[in-house]
Amino acid sequence: QHCILIGAPVDSGKRRAGCLMGPDAFRTAGLAAALESLGHTVEDLGNLTPAPYAPDSNDGLVFARNETIGWTSRLAQAAEGALEGGLPVFLGGDHSLSLGSVAGAANYAAKAGRPLFVLWLDAHTDFHTPDTSDSGNLHGTPVGYFTGRNGFEGFPEVANPVPQENVCMIGLRSVDAQERLALEGSSIRTHDMRHIDENGIAGPLNRFLEQVAQANGMLHVSLDVDFLDPSVAPAVGTTVPGGATVREAHLVCEILHDSGLMTSLDLVELNPFLDERGRTAHLMVDLCASALGRRVFDRPTRSYQ
Ligand code: ARG
Ligand code: MN
Ligand code: MN
Ligand code: MN
Repeated sequence: QHCILIGAPVDSGKRRAGCLMGPDAFRTAGLAAALESLGHTVEDLGNLTPAPYAPDSNDGLVFARNETIGWTSRLAQAAEGALEGGLPVFLGGDHSLSLGSVAGAANYAAKAGRPLFVLWLDAHTDFHTPDTSDSGNLHGTPVGYFTGRNGFEGFPEVANPVPQENVCMIGLRSVDAQERLALEGSSIRTHDMRHIDENGIAGPLNRFLEQVAQANGMLHVSLDVDFLDPSVAPAVGTTVPGGATVREAHLVCEILHDSGLMTSLDLVELNPFLDERGRTAHLMVDLCASALGRRVFDRPTRSYQ
């Protein structure tokens, strides 16, 4: 495959800074070389900048709204364009980058006449709107945005909202009351950690992938660092104990590769300022490699301790 790395140093989705260093941490951890060693060609587009935006006053609850709007339009454009030429891999940047990456993928899918599906690997559902968010942090809103919820006035219009039935979330263990309420009235598939503990992680994933295959769908995968347990992935501002293990995460990525269905990928919420000797960045690179065909015996001997 032709992998197109797109640096998206988005740091506007929350108040704690650091995700802007994410793209370079992924590069430093050897992402391009890892993918090339699997036989892929890799093109690195460098780091994007947001489209021009009005200054943010930050006097209300919602943080850096205009900057996030600037990022959203630039990223939607980038996603739609890159999908013409290969498999875009967005190097975040916090999860607010997915307002743009998914909206752009949805526009591309609509042009191609195929439905878009989204696999959301995250401790959180990120299903808020700017109105329901308690924190005012827009990284908690991308799923609300790209599924077409109201409340995103001033943001680029979502031309092709992703149908709720096409969204599958795995890894959940921190859902706000307002999100739970909205999810209960939705057809988004949610799999929390209890479900995974009792049934394993492969079952729900395989069922979802079957649905994607049957619909000849495109598949956008959004991998939030906090999907992983903080003991193996400390470099994220929103750690939640009880996350996916290294084994579960690799299995998800290996199954994704075997399915041949993934058409775009976000690697988000890596905050290198919080990392320990790069181990979270390395794990994320290894997971990306698994999703692109690296097999278990070929993983580098690496200690995450
Ligand atoms: N639900 C919380 C909020 O809205 C946490 C969101 C965390 N999102 C993330 N992408 N890490 O603030
Ligand atoms: Mn998230
Ligand atoms: Mn999260
Ligand atoms: Mn490894």
